[in-house]
Amino acid sequence: MTMLIRNATLPDGRTGIDLLVEADRIKAVGPNLPLPEDVPVIDAGGLLLSPPFVDAHFHMDATLSYGLPRVNQSGTLLEGIALWGELKPHLTQEALVERALQYCDWAVAKGLLAIRTHVDVCDDRLLAVEALLHVKERVKPYLDLQLVAFPQDGVLRSPTALANLKRSLDMGVDVVGGIPHFERTMADGAESVRILCELAAERGLRVDMHCDESDDPMSRHIETLAFHTQRLGLHGRVTGSHLTSMHSMDNYYVSKLLPLMREAQVNAIANPLINITLQGRHDTYPKRRGMTRVPELMAAGITVAFGHDCVMDPWYSLGSGDMLEVAQMGLHVAQMTSQAQMRACFDAVTVNAAKILGLDGYGIAPGQYADLVLLQARDPADAIRLRANRLMVVRRGQIVARTPAATASLSLPGRPETVDWALRR
Ligand code: FE2
Repeated sequence: MTMLIRNATLPDGRTGIDLLVEADRIKAVGPNLPLPEDVPVIDAGGLLLSPPFVDAHFHMDATLSYGLPRVNQSGTLLEGIALWGELKPHLTQEALVERALQYCDWAVAKGLLAIRTHVDVCDDRLLAVEALLHVKERVKPYLDLQLVAFPQDGVLRSPTALANLKRSLDMGVDVVGGIPHFERTMADGAESVRILCELAAERGLRVDMHCDESDDPMSRHIETLAFHTQRLGLHGRVTGSHLTSMHSMDNYYVSKLLPLMREAQVNAIANPLINITLQGRHDTYPKRRGMTRVPELMAAGITVAFGHDCVMDPWYSLGSGDMLEVAQMGLHVAQMTSQAQMRACFDAVTVNAAKILGLDGYGIAPGQYADLVLLQARDPADAIRLRANRLMVVRRGQIVARTPAATASLSLPGRPETVDWALRR
């Protein structure tokens, strides 16, 4: 299929832009492109045309399991992990696949076309690994799924976890995961980071660890992660997910830590919806927000993305695959309210996340894949403000989802008949 999209605004602020799609690629981008013969034209009407949303951190093996076998009463991370442990023996491959496929439907409808999902490898049957490898193939035509081998119960703490993790990599899982703060001791946590980084280096894989998801300012495994990244030459290929302890660290230590992360080109992923609900649970008042230091990490030149982490699972009862909801929460929690910072929050769920995943052909430029989302918004900040409708989602040149524009009809004396929440003056 070939099509011409007229008069779009791009996330970088360019307006009046046309975009020519030929087969699965973007052929040309610019103002007033000539219209080839017999090519359908889509009028973007000056609205925002973005590359698709990318979720850099998710748990697709647990998603949509809310209430199974029961609901998390305390709302804490640790009860969530215990609850997941109760559910694991009852998982079936069929149910895992069905829930994952349903979530991918939701994702595509929200313009979310690439997801890095952690998959728990601590079940000796590796049922979830098999299920998600199957789902990865099933959804390939419309969504890029990247799998991380995640030893939820600790790669050293759980006796079979390391062997299972290696087996899952042999089966085709893409990325090496870890959870150093959940190991028995700080020393074991550091040792797990060494073992897992070396494993990734041997196999030529990326690393993405749940790292320091804790309010304990002494949880400093990120320092070890940066050290081994630099030692093994894994620059740009290693990511620390969560890093919530950094919220509670003292400023002096962080002033040493950020340049070390920058030197090793370690990426950071915050999960705003989950961090704001799970962190600070042991506090009375004031309650810490717990999210990592997003603007400071960005200012230090570190690539930062936002992840959804959870949707309707043992840890989080809400969510719908809307990365604009994630960006909106990140913006609020980090107080990133300037124009440039709001734009940076949009980047955290698009280009930055794509960079961390190492996605091929991502972005709006000639030669890249024709993967696009037309939003009912004028610019990235407006998209976040409105959690804007995805009017049209394009994957490899094909329209895969549409949502009607949101308008309300009014019956007010002397006032307009409709509103769409766009600012007009
Ligand atoms: Fe996670």
